[in-house]
Amino acid sequence: METVNIIGAGLAGLSSALAFAENKIKCNLISLAPSERAQSVMAEGGINAALDTMGEGDSVDDHYEDTLNGGVYLADPDAVRGLVTHAPETVKWLTGLGVPFQMQDNKLLLRNFGGQKLKRTAFAKSSTGKVIMTALIDEVRKKEAEGYINRYCHHEALEPVIGYGTCKAVVVKDVFTDEESLLPGSVIAASGGLNGLFEGMTTGTVANTGDFTAACFEKGAALGNPEMIQFHPTTAHIAGKKLLISEAARGEGGRLFIIRDGKPWYFMEEFFPEQGNLAPRDIISRQMVKVLAMDDTQDQVYLDLTGLSQDAWKYKLSDMRDDIREFLNKDPVKEPIPVLPGIHFFMGGILTDKNHRTNIKGLYAAGECACQYHGANRLGGNSMLAAVYGGKIAAQSAMEDSLFVQGEPEETAVPDVKGVSDEFKEYLSQTLTEGLGILRNENTLHDALNKVQNLKNPDRTIKENKRLFVAEAMLKAALRRKESRGAHARTDYPERDDEHFKKTSVARFNDGRVQVEFKEIGEI
Ligand code: FUM
Repeated sequence: METVNIIGAGLAGLSSALAFAENKIKCNLISLAPSERAQSVMAEGGINAALDTMGEGDSVDDHYEDTLNGGVYLADPDAVRGLVTHAPETVKWLTGLGVPFQMQDNKLLLRNFGGQKLKRTAFAKSSTGKVIMTALIDEVRKKEAEGYINRYCHHEALEPVIGYGTCKAVVVKDVFTDEESLLPGSVIAASGGLNGLFEGMTTGTVANTGDFTAACFEKGAALGNPEMIQFHPTTAHIAGKKLLISEAARGEGGRLFIIRDGKPWYFMEEFFPEQGNLAPRDIISRQMVKVLAMDDTQDQVYLDLTGLSQDAWKYKLSDMRDDIREFLNKDPVKEPIPVLPGIHFFMGGILTDKNHRTNIKGLYAAGECACQYHGANRLGGNSMLAAVYGGKIAAQSAMEDSLFVQGEPEETAVPDVKGVSDEFKEYLSQTLTEGLGILRNENTLHDALNKVQNLKNPDRTIKENKRLFVAEAMLKAALRRKESRGAHARTDYPERDDEHFKKTSVARFNDGRVQVEFKEIGEI
């Protein structure tokens, strides 16, 4: 089998690379930044697996139910079944690689996380992403030394090369020399979320521009559920981005309140007595918007962590306390923290089947750039799991399909790689945030779509145009989905409509136009 190209060196990319190396297959690992600076390093709260080490009777079936229910039945059930079934062995594999998950009495300690009834989230304080990445980076170095992994760091993947419906290569650019080269072989997109379209509004790094997803889209890869954008309820505005205050804080007993009639009102506990502050993220974010809009409330929601135990601060959240002190100049042990919902995750992305194949032979996708596991709302703790597991499955599929992607890549036009102007980024981010907010309707969506369409002009760079195509896909899918489900809440269609919309919205770029249709879940 020829070398395979992996785009992105975060969790999904590394896990994919290791799967190839373990099978003695060579791969190229292509990324703008070194793995140490990948968004995955910033992942905080933990990774889900029904390990039941806390003796609560957790099971794979419960994890399956919670994931489908959290995603309001839009996730691919077969893909989710694979994910949750392999979750315990995935966490054990990571433990075997030396990930220092927190332990108690020789057993993995699990924490409560949103949308799940039982403790299921393995963690290392609130730096879980960092410790998992550290272990995977170590392992990748060994395989690199053995000659199986060839790192192209400081390289930008510009576009996949598709010929006769098959992906045969990728065009990459060395960002120091601007030199472009064509790397033959099939391609696994593991390039992260679409943060570049929402600059300044996300908890994720804008280094994850979404440009490779956009390039795949423009070359014919379908996008699934692009309208599904997760707002995390507890973020804070800091320079250039949103600071994530991990759900783990609520898992340890943190409470949301707003001042009403001069007193704290713990609205989640009143409206959702069963799940309270640990309801799924879409539900909490929506409720925050609603209480903020009430006449008799103040205009700020707070996260009250003053009642957390000393042990919780010392053993589980000390790094989070440090971050809050450093970035917000507040000590959460002593005073409530002002919070607001911020964009945290894109459930939609390059549509794949349960084995991470896209509609283009030889092109696979895993991690946040892919769509299959999270439906209309992702559960906290399922993203790291999906990235590690999904990266592996994508690699397995690429190995099985190797026969189909042999052959020389055809000539490809050298892409125009001029950048994206700051003015464009700011305007697009503002337009999309207004259109695709926590609450949406025909008017906000149409306004945003008109603005996006008016942005198209012959002077735009290729990258700007590609971002506009993805923006258009998001808005058109949101307009077509005339219902409310998970993160997609329409004030003009407040009900869920299973009859018409328990389906994947699928966007395609055809003959220069973005088109959206609905397909049965699991179809690509
Ligand atoms: O709140 C958090 O720690 C986020 C975790 C996640 O999105 O999985």
